[in-house]
Amino acid sequence: MVKLKDYEILISKGSHQNCGVWARKCLPKTKQILIISNKKVFGFFGKTVQKSLIESNFLCEFHLIGDGERFKNFKSLQLTLEKMSEIGLTRTDAVIALGGGVVGDLAGFAASIYLRGIPFLQIPTTLLAMVDSSVGGKTAINTKFGKNIVGSFYQPKGVLVDIDAIKTLPRREIVAGFCEIIKQSVIGSQELFDETDLFLKNVSISKLKTSENNLHPLESLITSQIQFKASVVENDEFEDVSRNDFRSRKILNFGHTVGHALEKVTNYQRFKHGEAVGVGLIVAAEISKKLEICVGNELTLINDVLHRLGNFPKTSDLNIDKVIQMITYDKKNDGSSVKWILLEKIGSPIIVDGREIPQVVLKKSLSKVLLG
Ligand SMILES: NC(=O)c1ccc[n+]([C@@H]2O[C@H](COP(=O)([O-])OP(=O)(O)OC[C@H]3O[C@@H](n4cnc5c(N)ncnc54)[C@H](O)[C@@H]3O)[C@@H](O)[C@H]2O)c1
Ligand SMILES: [Zn+2]
Repeated sequence: MVKLKDYEILISKGSHQNCGVWARKCLPKTKQILIISNKKVFGFFGKTVQKSLIESNFLCEFHLIGDGERFKNFKSLQLTLEKMSEIGLTRTDAVIALGGGVVGDLAGFAASIYLRGIPFLQIPTTLLAMVDSSVGGKTAINTKFGKNIVGSFYQPKGVLVDIDAIKTLPRREIVAGFCEIIKQSVIGSQELFDETDLFLKNVSISKLKTSENNLHPLESLITSQIQFKASVVENDEFEDVSRNDFRSRKILNFGHTVGHALEKVTNYQRFKHGEAVGVGLIVAAEISKKLEICVGNELTLINDVLHRLGNFPKTSDLNIDKVIQMITYDKKNDGSSVKWILLEKIGSPIIVDGREIPQVVLKKSLSKVLLG
C-alpha cells in the first residue's frame, strides 16, 4: 500500500473480487456508485466489480464510453454527465473509473465538475494507468486543439490496483506501460533503475502474463513505481509553472518532448503513447551526452533496458524536420521556448531551455536515434 496525503493506493492480486469492502472504507456514506468503463474492460471485470459493490450495500449502475483516445472528448463527457444526472447521483454518491488512462482521465474530470465535485475512486486496469495516470490527480479530455487541453487537478478518494488485470492486457500495452516505468526509473534513482533493469533481465514480456511466479515481482515493481510517482506529485501537486528543480512535476515529462512529436507526425496511428516516449527517452539521453551534460554510460544503459522490451514501431521513414517542427509546437512549452528534460545521470534529471540546445545537436541526435 502507498499512502498519500489525501488517499491510499492499495496494490494486490485478485482484489477486484473484494473491491466492495475497499470502496466502503473509502466511501462510508455513499449510497450509489456509477462505474465508468468501456465495453472491453467491463466485459473482463465489470461483473466481478459490480457484484462486490452490491455485496457492500452500494446501489450500482454502469456507463460505458467508447474504447480509445479519440473517445476522451466532450461528447463522451456530456453523455457521462447526463448519465450521472439521470440516475440522480448526489454529492455523497460516487464514481468509479474502471479501465486504463482514458477512462480514468475522463471519469475523474466528470466527477470533478458534476455538482462541483463528487467523490471518485480509480480501479486502473492497464500497466500505464497503474503506475502513472491513476497517481497524482490529473484529469482531462482532449479537444480539437490538442490532448488534455481541458481538465482539472482532482484527487480520488482511493485507488485499487489489481495486478491480475495484466493477464488480459495486450502485449503492446504492457510494453507501453514499461516504457513509462523505465522513464520513472531513469529520473528516479539508481535503486529504482536497478530494480526495473533486473526485473526485465529475469522476466520476458511474453511470459509475464502466463506465469503466476512473475506477477509477484511485478507487484513489488509496481509498488516502487507508484511510491516514486506519488513522492513527485505530492511535492508539486499543481505542477507549479515557476518550478524548474529536479524534483518538480515537470521531470515526469522526460522523453515526452520527442514522444509527443512522434505521435503527432504519425497522426497518432503508429505508436502507443508509451512506445513513443520510449524512443523519446533515448533521444533525450543522446542530446544529454552530446552536450556533455551526461558523461557516464547512461545512454547505453537506457538503450539496453528498452531493448529488452522487443521491437518498437519503425522510425526510419520519418522526416526529421517535421519532427523538429512538432517539437516546437508542444503545448508543454512555456512561452516561446521548449522545456527539455535532460539527464545528468540516473536519478538526476535537469530541465533545460530549448534555446540552449543547438539546432545541429538536436538534428544529429534525432537522426541517429530515428534513422539509425
Ligand atoms: N492523468 C495523468 O496523470 C496521466 C498520465 C499518463 C497518461 N494519461 C492518459 O492516459 C491515457 C492512456 O492510458 P492507457 O495507456 O491506459 O490507454 P487506454 O485507457 O486507452 O487503454 C489501452 C487499451 O487497453 C484496453 N484495456 C484496458 N485495460 C485492459 C485489460 N486489463 N485487459 C485488456 N485490455 C485492457 C483499453 O480498452 C484500451 O483499448 C492517455 O489519454 C493519457 O493522456 C494520463
Ligand atoms: Zn506519458
